[in-house]
Amino acid sequence: MQKKISTIQSILLRYFLVLTSVSILGFTANSQDKFLWATASAAYQVEGGYKADGKGLSNWDVYTNDYKITAHPMFAGEVHTGNVAINEYDRKQYLQDIALMKKLGVNSYRFSIAWTRIIPNGIGKVNEKGIQHYLTFINDLLANGIEPMVTLYHWDMPQALEDKGGWLNPESVNWYDAYAKIIFKTYGDKVKKFITFNEPYINNFLIEPVVKNIIKKEHPFNFTSESLSKNVVAVHHLLLANAKAIQQYHSMKLNGKIGITLSLSPSIAANTNSEADNKAAIIQDGLHNRWFLEPLYNGKYPTDILALYQEHLPTFKPTIDDYKLFAANKPDFIGVNYYAPAYVKSEEKMAFGVNWMINPDTVKAFNGPVRPEYLYQLLMRLKADYGNPTMIITENGAGFGPNDEKIVDDKINDSLRTNYIITHIEAALKAKKEGANLQGYTVWSLFDNFEWMSGYKSRFGMVNVNFKTQKRIPKRSFFEYQKIIKAYK
Ligand code: FCB
Repeated sequence: MQKKISTIQSILLRYFLVLTSVSILGFTANSQDKFLWATASAAYQVEGGYKADGKGLSNWDVYTNDYKITAHPMFAGEVHTGNVAINEYDRKQYLQDIALMKKLGVNSYRFSIAWTRIIPNGIGKVNEKGIQHYLTFINDLLANGIEPMVTLYHWDMPQALEDKGGWLNPESVNWYDAYAKIIFKTYGDKVKKFITFNEPYINNFLIEPVVKNIIKKEHPFNFTSESLSKNVVAVHHLLLANAKAIQQYHSMKLNGKIGITLSLSPSIAANTNSEADNKAAIIQDGLHNRWFLEPLYNGKYPTDILALYQEHLPTFKPTIDDYKLFAANKPDFIGVNYYAPAYVKSEEKMAFGVNWMINPDTVKAFNGPVRPEYLYQLLMRLKADYGNPTMIITENGAGFGPNDEKIVDDKINDSLRTNYIITHIEAALKAKKEGANLQGYTVWSLFDNFEWMSGYKSRFGMVNVNFKTQKRIPKRSFFEYQKIIKAYK
């Protein structure tokens, strides 16, 4: 019986996929403008070579090798590290991978630079071999007609700076500024899109607190309003660093664009009839979305959320000069990472009284409920509330676990991921058609890779990677994405 239902389901799904592909082709075929079709990755998740050519150690090298954080039973349950990852530091390997990108048809590739390759101790002496590595990589991409989109910081802080307090140290603004200057000076003639930071909300209010709790041998999700509020200081430094980097980049007149990537997640009351849930959803929207969008576009923090943080951390006081710096240095584009909306329930015992991790789906994606319509709504909201900024979707994608990853005769029919990608592209293009200033779409990710806390257990790639042999097998989603890109041109 069970089998029969799933056969019917898969026939329906296949039919649905064909229909959606056709409708996407229908309304995009006439577009003449250059739209970025991309895939994304991050240094720690793909590079490996963790001590190669004078690289310094990052916090993630230490979290995985010394503290073995992925071994926690709530996560991978095994020791996994990014020491080798998918071997992307190796030129022989990455040239093959660039060939796959070409086959896929993307015209842009988003990747991040490991600060520790450029300046092993985070500040001070520069490592020429690290500089050269990315120069060669960028040239190799360009030679293949693929535009690099470079993230300066995707969660891997040099350990030497982590030892000085990391982003909690006010000096972090200057550390980052010096690093950013080297990046702009070295690569700014070739790279035309820079991203200062990736997802400060998820990194500072979720991943880092979880990691630090595991290190302290506490329950990973043992957060309180007080403990989370302390991290607002780190985020403030990071946003100041973002503004200073934008200022610096603009002053260099490099003829490219600079932006920041946020994880944006529309918040919805779990029970729309509950006043408490509706209030909680507004708070969660403030914590996750407005806390970043407001300073970026309106030059100051939202007053409701500022009051909330100050209630738990009265010493937190942004200055007039901070706000002036924000207001004077807006990003040229906003990188939108969208995976899912948050269904929010009011729960007193949770930090800030909100539980935003509810997933009502029967078949669950790793990063939350699958709701493409909220991507459409999100882009339309950015258009309405923030002056229709240039938007690039810098991450969107999914993983559903082993059933969607089965290898049969060297083929992988990842129909859930395929459906996810197709329906989200459709939602994004609908918003674009209705006037949202959307200039690109990026899948996370081209390859399965090191998925932070879950190590190699959560696959997000359109290409399967055998982590022992480094063999690559494109999945069905790869070929469907290829079709969409081809049809769009
Ligand atoms: C995002 C991260 C990215 C990857 C995806 C699955 O939050 O930016 O590095 O882990 O989730």
